[in-house]
Formats: sequence, C-alpha cells, structure tokens
Amino acid sequence: MGQRLVHPESDGSGMSGSDEDQPATRVVTAGRREEWTQGVVNPPLWRASTILYDDVAHLRATARRGDTHHTLYYGRRGTPTQWALADALTELEPGAEGTFLYCSGVAAVTAALLSVLKPGDELLLPDSAYDPTTSFAGGLLKTFGVATRRYDPLIGGGIADLIGETTRAILLESPGSLTFEVQDVPAIVAAAKARGVVTLLDNTWATPLLFPAIEKGIDLSILACTKYVVGHSDVMLGSVTAGPGFFAKLRNTSFQLGQVASPDDCWLAARGLRTMAVRLKQHEASALTVAHWLADRTEVATVLHPALPSCPGHAHFVRDFKGSSGLFAFALKDGDEASRAAFIDALRLFGIGYSWGGFESLAIPADPHRALGVPDHGGPLVRLHIGLEDVGDLIADLDRGLAAFRAAHG
Ligand SMILES: Cc1ncc(COP(=O)(O)O)c(C=O)c1O
Repeated sequence: MGQRLVHPESDGSGMSGSDEDQPATRVVTAGRREEWTQGVVNPPLWRASTILYDDVAHLRATARRGDTHHTLYYGRRGTPTQWALADALTELEPGAEGTFLYCSGVAAVTAALLSVLKPGDELLLPDSAYDPTTSFAGGLLKTFGVATRRYDPLIGGGIADLIGETTRAILLESPGSLTFEVQDVPAIVAAAKARGVVTLLDNTWATPLLFPAIEKGIDLSILACTKYVVGHSDVMLGSVTAGPGFFAKLRNTSFQLGQVASPDDCWLAARGLRTMAVRLKQHEASALTVAHWLADRTEVATVLHPALPSCPGHAHFVRDFKGSSGLFAFALKDGDEASRAAFIDALRLFGIGYSWGGFESLAIPADPHRALGVPDHGGPLVRLHIGLEDVGDLIADLDRGLAAFRAAHG
C-alpha cells in the first residue's frame, strides 16, 4: 500500500485525453489513465481516510518524500477517484499544470485567492462578481489585510490605470453574475502580465469547452463544478486549474486549509463530465431559441444573453468564445417586485431555486448588489437557466408567465 497503482497486465498508460483531440472527445477520454481505472471504464469509487503501509520503514519513506502527489498517503491527500477527475479537468485546459478540487465552487474561489494574496496586497474585483466572492473579499480577505478595489467589468485595457504598487491579483468573471457583462479578457490579461499581476477567472458559465482560460493567459481558472460538470443538481463541487508556475502554491495552500473534495462527489462529477459537451450543446441551442423569443416580446425591456447584441460586451463574446451555455437574464419592462413574482410563480416547468447548470430549467428574481451603481435595464431582472426539456414546452411556459405578468402589471 501507500504506492502507485497499475493494472497487472497494463503498461500503465491507459486511455487519456490528448491536446490534439477536440474538446468533445476529451471529456470522454480525459482522466481515464489505467492507473486510476484499473481497467474499469470510468474511474471507480475509492473512499479512504487511513491508508495502510507495509511497515514503519515504508511509512517513514513515504512521509519523507514530501511530495505525495498521486500517491496513496492519507485520505485527505486524495485517492485515484479524485486524481482522475482533477487530471480530466487539467486535460480540458491546454497548457495547464494541474487541478485541485474543493467541496464547493465558493471554496475553490477562496482557496485560489488565498494561494496568491498576502497581507498588504490589493485585489481588483469586477463589480459584477458572484456575491459570495465579493463577500469574501470584503470579509476574511479584509480582516487578513488584503484590500479590494472594485472595477467596471467592461473596463478592458483601462484596468492598467487601476494597477498600483500593491496590486497583486485581478479576479475576472465573464460573463458577470446576474448581469452577464462579457469582459475583455485578453486586454485585462495583457495589462496584468505587463505589471506582473496574477489573473484569476471564474469560468463557470463557459467551462473550458467554450472558453479555454489557461490558453488565453489566465493563471488560475476556477469552476463551480456544481453547475455544468456535475450537470444533475445533486453535488456541490469546485475546481481550480493552474497555469504554468501556479500549481505548487495552489496545492500547498489547499493542503494547509485542509481542503479535500469527497470521493463520492468526484465520482459523480466524473460521470457528469462525460456528457458535458452534448449537454452544453443542447443548453446552448434551447437558451438561444428562448432568448430570441423573449427579445421579440413587448413585455421584455432587454435580454442579457452574451450571444445577443443587447448584452454588454457582446463583441468580446463573438471574438473569444466558442459558444454559449444555458444561463442568461432578461428585464420585465417597467415591472415591479409583485409583477415579477407573478411571472415567476406562474411558471410550471421552471423551478424556483438557486444554482444552475443541471438538466432542469430554473427561474429566479435577480437583484444585483453593486458598489459602482446598478445599471438600468428597464425593469426588474429574471435569471433563467434553460434546461434539457423540450424548448417548445419551455416557451409555452414562459408565455403563461408573461400573461400573469401582464395581469399583475395592470
Ligand atoms: C459564477 C459562480 N461562481 C461560483 C459559484 C459558487 O459555486 P457553489 O454554489 O458550488 O459554491 C456560483 C454559484 O452559483 C456561481 O454562479
């Protein structure tokens, strides 16, 4: 025990993704090294806390080696189930060095930030960042002596003017939470690199399939795997994939924090990953159909879908993304809290609940909290996640919702 695993009749290489394959092929093959699968198609479930050693000398030799990467050592350092999923996510990001997994997307965001920031540093944060990310910056990071400056998500290369002596990291989230501004990632990365500033991107909306972040120069690419990787709304999980030079620091920080993702959750996420490319294609097609349908409705003031010209930063989307996913927002023209609630409550197929990225459609009221001012979209926002149901049925449901909105609106 306490050693590498290899199938008895195998050369140990097994199936694994290659940079030459298309992303849809890579989600099928990635992370399936025979060392991890032992010949089973998908990596099996290895649960462990204690790992047994042959004798004291073996235990001491393993501990002395220091680097326990991909070695059975103690449950907190992982088993082949977690390593296989981490490898798979690394293989989806051409140029990446390695991936660490976390018990949620928020845990991934916070560990990534802690791995690059120290007291006295400044973090630049988009005003459209996911709320708990902003709360962490204004909470624990502030307590630990890290200052945060908010920036307009559409600032682009103008971010160079905000980079000061103490600026250590820029977080990006593209498109932004709730309001979907698409950032000029190449311009921000270029400004950051010119000043030796680290870039972190919350890439949950696009996944590496639609936006290969490391290839685009991002240093740490963050996913709430809870969404599209898992895809079935039954697991909380996060990942950070590190670009060249960032994995050792990320892993070391995460080990110190005691971070470990449950093997059961990683096993489910690996199952989800295999179908992510086809699921994303369907989410994309149905969400675009719904977004265009909404854009033509007189009850709708604007549609915030990155693939539609009405979305701020749309030109960046067209230039940089390989496609869109299933999450977007729209504004109910001149609506109020009550008429928005009437719209959402009238929906039969759209569930009302947090998160997104699963097979089912969801609708929530979206109320952005902003430091730099909330943009006026012409009415209250509704965020939709378009699931895998028949798109005609979804449109009929939204039509029912709009009738209820009209009735409540007077
Ligand atoms: C953009 C984004 N990042 C991170 C997260 C956090 O993920 P989790 O819910 O797995 O903590 C979410 C959750 O909704 C999200 O929308």
